[in-house]
Amino acid sequence: IERTFSILKPDATRRNITGKVNALIEGAGLRIVAQKRVHLTRGQAETFYAVHKERPFFGELVEQMSAAPVVVQVLEGENAIARYREVMGATNPANAAPGTIRKEFALNVGENTVHGSDASETASVEIAQFFSGNEIVG
Ligand code: GTP
Ligand code: MG
Repeated sequence: IERTFSILKPDATRRNITGKVNALIEGAGLRIVAQKRVHLTRGQAETFYAVHKERPFFGELVEQMSAAPVVVQVLEGENAIARYREVMGATNPANAAPGTIRKEFALNVGENTVHGSDASETASVEIAQFFSGNEIVG
């Protein structure tokens, strides 16, 4: 059993669709074993997306991620990291497959509704950035 880190981004909380997104997550066989709503500071968003700091869209990304609350989650399941990325769909919703979260809900490449870890090392780091062990209840 594997765990991954998920964020329901500001475009999801703004539109009040976090329950609809969670329904797709659970429908894919992933269990939400930790969840909380937080408003990221600019600093937290910069730290979280530090890998992208040289990219031209970094400033806009940090701005968007700290502009409204998010829901941070730990998801658990068989091959949870790859499974969640399948369910999320392509980064740009224009390329996302039918039935994926981003196809159903994303507005554009920046406001693309969800984040999911891309590897087990990043999943561990990202989970630890937001959750202590006793907040994760499998
Ligand atoms: P995350 O799960 O959020 O990490 O998405 P990803 O792994 O599918 O994509 P990636 O890590 O390459 O990019 C991180 C985030 O940066 C994306 O989810 C987008 O929100 C944002 N992003 C990526 N490319 C662009 C872009 O060209 N323009 C803008 N505005 N944002 C972008
Ligand atoms: Mg990524």
